[in-house]
Amino acid sequence: MIPRHRPWEEAADFQIGLRPVAPGDWLEGGEADPAARKDPLFAASRGLVWAEAEGSRPGQAEVLEMVEAALGPAPAPPELPPLYAAARRTPDDLCLMEKREGQWRLTALSLSAGSFFTAEEVIGRSLAELHGPVTGFAERFLVRVQRIFDGLRPELVLERRNWTLLNSDALHTPASGPIRARIAEVDPAQAGAALNLRVERQTLRRLPRTGGVLFTIRVWLAPLDSLRKDPDRLAAFARAWRTATPELHAYKRFDLYDPLVEGFLRRAGAPEGD
Ligand code: HEM
Repeated sequence: MIPRHRPWEEAADFQIGLRPVAPGDWLEGGEADPAARKDPLFAASRGLVWAEAEGSRPGQAEVLEMVEAALGPAPAPPELPPLYAAARRTPDDLCLMEKREGQWRLTALSLSAGSFFTAEEVIGRSLAELHGPVTGFAERFLVRVQRIFDGLRPELVLERRNWTLLNSDALHTPASGPIRARIAEVDPAQAGAALNLRVERQTLRRLPRTGGVLFTIRVWLAPLDSLRKDPDRLAAFARAWRTATPELHAYKRFDLYDPLVEGFLRRAGAPEGD
C-alpha cells in the first residue's frame, strides 16, 4: 500500500508544518490491540518506554479523560498511571507537556515507538532541551513553538508529520546503534524491502482544565517497495531524497543509505537526478 502520509512530498527541510485537523480525526487508530504491543514493553523495559515527573498525575488524568471521550471508556487495571492507561487504548505514543517555572517541560510520557530516544532520557526536558540535537531548532523554531504551546486553543487539534528512512520494520527503536550496525547486511537487490519509510504523525491539543498540552506521536511504516506501485509517488520520493537540505540529510544520516536508495530508485525506474 502507498504510505498514508507522505511528508517528503511537502518539504525538503525541517519545518514546523502544523495544520488544524477535525477533532474527529484526532487519533487515526488502525491497530487492533495496542495494549498487546505496549504492555510487554511496559513490564520488561519500563525506563525505555515510560517516565513521569512528580505532580503530573492531574494532567495525566485529564489525558485519560480526553482519550476516553474520543474512544469510549475502557476499564484498565487501577494501579496503572492514568497516562499509561490512556496510551494502551491507542497506537499513538502520548507525551504530556506542562509549564513549570516558565518553561514547557515533558512531565509524563508513554513512548512505545520511540525514534532513537527513550522515556528516561527525555523526562523533565524543556522544548529547547528536547530539540538540542536538531540543527537550527533554537534559532529557527523555538520561539514560535513556545508561542504555539502558550496560545493553543482548547477546540483546536493540530497535526504535523515528519519522516525518515531506516533499515528496520520495528516500531520500538530506542537506539540507533544496533540498527545502523546492520546496514551493511542489506542486500542491495532487496533494498526496497529492507528499507522502511518511517513517518511520525504528531498532534497537539490543549488540556483545558489542567492547562498542559498533549503531544501524540503515531508511527507509520512502509517499505520503499510500496512506492513502486505509483510512478508519480516514486518520482516525488526521488526528488525529496535528492533535494533534502544538507542539514536534514546530515541529521537523518541519509549518507548511510544513499547507495542503497539510489540503487533502489534506478531499479524501480525513477527519473534520474540532475
Ligand atoms: C510544535 C511542536 C514541535 C515541533 C514543531 C517539533 C519539531 C521537531 C523537528 C523539526 C525535529 C527534527 C526531526 C523532524 O521532525 O524532522 C524534532 C525532533 C524531535 N522532537 Fe520535536 N517538535 C515539536 C514538539 C515536540 C515535543 C512536544 C516533544 C516531546 C516529546 C518533541 C520531541 C522531539 C525529539 C525527542 C526529537 C528528536 C531529537 C533528537 O534527534 O534527539 N518534539 N522536533
